Amino acid sequence: MTPKDIDWSNLGFGYIKTDKRFVANYKDGKWDDGALIEDENITMNECACVLQYAQTCFEGLKAYRTENGDVVCFRPDLNAKRMADSCERMKMPVFPEDKFVEAVKAVVKANADWVPPYGTGASLYLRPYMFGSNAVIGVKPATEFQFRIFATPVGPYFKGGVKPLTIRTCDFDRAAPKGTGHIKAGLNYAMSLYAIVDAHECGYDENVYLDSATRTYIEETGGANVLFVTKDNKVVTPKSDTILPSITRRSLMQVAADYLGLETEQRKVRLDEVSDFVECGLCGTAAVISPVGRIVDGDNVITFSSGMEKMGPTIQKLYDTLTGIQMGRIPAPEGWICKI
Ligand code: PLP
Ligand code: COI
Repeated sequence: MTPKDIDWSNLGFGYIKTDKRFVANYKDGKWDDGALIEDENITMNECACVLQYAQTCFEGLKAYRTENGDVVCFRPDLNAKRMADSCERMKMPVFPEDKFVEAVKAVVKANADWVPPYGTGASLYLRPYMFGSNAVIGVKPATEFQFRIFATPVGPYFKGGVKPLTIRTCDFDRAAPKGTGHIKAGLNYAMSLYAIVDAHECGYDENVYLDSATRTYIEETGGANVLFVTKDNKVVTPKSDTILPSITRRSLMQVAADYLGLETEQRKVRLDEVSDFVECGLCGTAAVISPVGRIVDGDNVITFSSGMEKMGPTIQKLYDTLTGIQMGRIPAPEGWICKI
């Protein structure tokens, strides 16, 4: 496939091989310089730590084509920092944050033809990741690692684009207190696969997880943080040590306060108060802000007053402002846009 074969406006969220990816190797206590390569396949030992004990973590960010034709990334320094946090928790060597950002830029530049045209709703998704690559059979960290970044053009994460989603509270847990919910470890996603397949089979778009200690508070979904809007237009997001600190959510809270003049609050959100909110959205790099029309909790069906047809007005304003900043239509706060 080449960029010319793509129907950009109808692209889903899937993998398409692009031209170049970045690869660096860690051995004998240090990272090599890394390089851009063409081969998308990886050969490794059958006993590699990642294959046996899931020693791997990853990131996700996007490159956009702006209104004036520039190619930009959104806050890659925060992905570099979060990956460093993930690596420390997973006993993996940190890939230096400045080199992470340089490698992101190099991958985007090398795949510039794959950055979707402005106005199509598509973007170039970048997936940095690291894994323990040498053979390990006793339970211990690897001593050799590979860091890679590939790029793939994507459209909306949820089918149907911006049509409100129906999600359900999940009977399974995502993250334990003092576990790995706050980092982007592959294992968090492996254990969500059973629940997501079951949710889809039961007709739901996603699972929203509750805190595993008490099952009374809203946490997040399998791949996004949650935002709520109150009747008096305050933007509320759950506070928890066991959810991923979403860069999109942190940015949206700042957009709500500084661009839209809204009150914002990060606090614990009880499941039994969700019916008091008027709008709900899922936010993340892949999800952007996807509106939630309904949350099903057993027999209790909570339908937000924004309804099942379109985004609520406040979520819409947040969406328009954030995507406006990313696409160069609205001036960005200092340091948010990284021009390639
Ligand atoms: N929560 C989870 C579990 C995720 O996988 C993601 C995706 O990265 C997010 C939240 C959103 O984070 P971000 O906005 O940094 O992409
Ligand atoms: C992202 O938003 O970048 C993620 O990693 C979420 C994943 C579910 C695709």
